[in-house]
Amino acid sequence: MRRVLVVTGGGDCPGLNAVIRAIVKRASKEKDWEVVGSIEAYNGILREPTEIMILDDAAVSGIHIRGGTIIGTTNKGGPFAWPVKLPDGTWGEADRSDEMLRKLQYLGIEAVISIGGEGSQRISQMLYEKGCNIIGVPKTIDNDLSATDVTFGFQTSVQVATEAVDKLVTTAASHNRVFILEVMGRYAGWIALNAAIAGGAEVCLIPEIEYDINKVLDKVNSRFSRDRGFAIIVVAEGARPKGGEFATNATDQVVGYNNLKLAGAAAKLKQELMIAGCKYDIRETVLGHLQRGGVPVAYDRVLATQFGVKAFEMVLEGKFGRMVNYRHPNVGSVSLLEAIEQYNFVKPDDALVTAARGVGISFGD
Ligand code: F6P
Repeated sequence: MRRVLVVTGGGDCPGLNAVIRAIVKRASKEKDWEVVGSIEAYNGILREPTEIMILDDAAVSGIHIRGGTIIGTTNKGGPFAWPVKLPDGTWGEADRSDEMLRKLQYLGIEAVISIGGEGSQRISQMLYEKGCNIIGVPKTIDNDLSATDVTFGFQTSVQVATEAVDKLVTTAASHNRVFILEVMGRYAGWIALNAAIAGGAEVCLIPEIEYDINKVLDKVNSRFSRDRGFAIIVVAEGARPKGGEFATNATDQVVGYNNLKLAGAAAKLKQELMIAGCKYDIRETVLGHLQRGGVPVAYDRVLATQFGVKAFEMVLEGKFGRMVNYRHPNVGSVSLLEAIEQYNFVKPDDALVTAARGVGISFGD
């Protein structure tokens, strides 16, 4: 039997299971291929005893509608930065990539499909440079990869965020309140922007457009008349005031987690609004991981299925060192180097920004 390994890395995302299922279903059409999954990204290969799972038709049956990933994931460590405790009790990192590649050989794994975001695809490129037959599949709810028009999981997150706006509108209107909804979006504000338009918010604050709190307050005030009214502000977790910093939770440190831990954008904004003189009652809601869990919407299941089939066909064709992508209307591929070259930021003149401004949404600029 020929063997391909599937790995899911980084934060989870609705649609991961649909990709896994599509890889397995497509592979089962070939007589001589077996699919195995490494548990929690590459940890399953690096751990002793090895933790891998055979992914056959029975294992993936019906999983396309389930959130999360049946093989687990992690956004800590990795083969090039494995956390190790040093003699002085602090934590350092070890490069275990050579050892891992030897283990893949020992396990008879001919190719790897790595489903992950920017960080995971950087690891894919490094493994490829070391001779690994690897293919990337893009994954991120933030939609922040520029080498693909869209990633699966994004539409599900937008739907969850939009439904949250819809719910907040009714309570905000009943109480004449200002509601701040904090959504995910570390460096890219696509979720906030789409949910603000779909939900009809008054203000949308995103990482790419730094805000002036007085402009935000002006917009809020314009929505009240004789103390009656309401306003909805959608803020991405990575949004910042002009010349200001990210809202972070620096004390919440976890070994091997090298991302800046963002937290508190809504709470910070509430404080800023109060200091600026907002006289209305303000409440904040942090949507958090509700945006990442649960059932993927149909669009994401379809895209994920296309990506999974394509990834396995690229294994058959030996198209390694590349990442699957979507450029309307085609599913194709780009080199991993191209895939990690640049983020997909919201540009100030993006058509969606223009549309948002057109319907009166303020970016606080
Ligand atoms: O993967 C992107 C993301 O959704 C970011 O928007 C967010 O900052 C991050 O994941 C949070 O991930 P976790 O809490 O799992 O570390």
